Amino acid sequence: MKILVTGGLGFIGSHTVVELLKENNEVIIVDNLYNSKIEVLEKLEKITGKKIKFYKYDLVNKEEIEKIFKENEIDSVIHFAGYKAVGESVKKPLMYYSNNLISTINLLETMNKYNVKKIVFSSSATVYGNPGVVKYTEELGRKDASSPYGTTKCMIEKILEDLYASDNSWNITILRYFNPVGAHESGLIGEEPNGIPNNLMPYVMKVASGKLETLSIFGNDYPTPDGTGIRDYIHVVDLAKGHVKALEKIKEGLNYYNLGSGKGISVLELVNTFEKINNVKVNYKIVGRREGDLAEYYADATKALNELNWKTEKTLEDICKDSWNYEKNNK
Ligand code: NAD
Ligand code: UD1
Repeated sequence: MKILVTGGLGFIGSHTVVELLKENNEVIIVDNLYNSKIEVLEKLEKITGKKIKFYKYDLVNKEEIEKIFKENEIDSVIHFAGYKAVGESVKKPLMYYSNNLISTINLLETMNKYNVKKIVFSSSATVYGNPGVVKYTEELGRKDASSPYGTTKCMIEKILEDLYASDNSWNITILRYFNPVGAHESGLIGEEPNGIPNNLMPYVMKVASGKLETLSIFGNDYPTPDGTGIRDYIHVVDLAKGHVKALEKIKEGLNYYNLGSGKGISVLELVNTFEKINNVKVNYKIVGRREGDLAEYYADATKALNELNWKTEKTLEDICKDSWNYEKNNK
């Protein structure tokens, strides 16, 4: 299959490219390098031993997208490209709506024109809002997301639903990720957040490597066994494999899948495992809760198991080991 991967030099996209090439797919990457570096392309070629076709184009520019479809016989698209920082989206909502929505609409219109009607879209558990349960099933449906970033995910899901309702020859798979973490075991590719990280795992790595002094744990008074927040952390390589399965098993119609491990891990559990497995110290202090955080949630990933034959294989130990390996390699 010839697959166009938008945002393919980013964190999740790059790992997915590796898994797609492993399964002998042909991959074309488009990325405007807003949140990634061109060196990732060389690293992908090093890991896979294959040459990869790359377009440094912006999906907001429709003519650029069109060129890709004109020059290549594309079978399907995995759409990762977009802005993803929750806090930044609160400060710059228009920037988020404009980039995430316009790029998606341009992409879908061009796909339609070239009769490419198979797409896998990166959504997020954030679309469930605050559903009042801790184990999220796909049936819960969307609630108001807590940030403009999350709202772009809800809106794009809705756009895809309307598109499908208008033309059911489309094949649409919406993947709702839980908390993607970890790095490729080669240590060559991983997550590279700009500036001071907001998410837990990147922050833990910066503290462990001495680049930041202390991790603030946001609250230890939640109704959880150790009082700290519980999330479903998923190794990015497992997540990447979920995309390959989704493409292989893509069914007719519009389908939604949670991609998570199905297991909740607390902040303290993650920090303690990171210290133990890597034999490093992570200085931390307990501070107040972060506004907007939920106490606990994790995926019910049964549907992905039953229909895609996919489940996570990597453990929390693997996540901590691979993250640290990447951080050490990229000091
Ligand atoms: P990332 O920022 O590492 O990768 C996204 C890539 O898209 C970047 O390389 C960026 O340069 C590119 N991009 C952005 N706007 C573009 C545009 N207009 N044209 C071309 N390229 C553009 O993010 P990621 O963590 O790999 O996430 C991938 C997708 O998964 C995103 O849609 C994100 O919202 C979604 N997602 C991520 C997480 C997470 O925690 N990482 C969780 C749930 C969902
Ligand atoms: C956040 C986003 C979510 C997004 C996801 C990407 C919010 C409300 N949600 O999820 O939309 O899809 O990132 O991975 O922003 N924590 C600390 N100290 C820190 C950082 C985090 O204690 O310095 C705790 C948090 O309180 C939480 C857990 O670690 O309990 C995970 O936080 P984080 O990595 O930011 O992810 P989420 O908030 O779950």
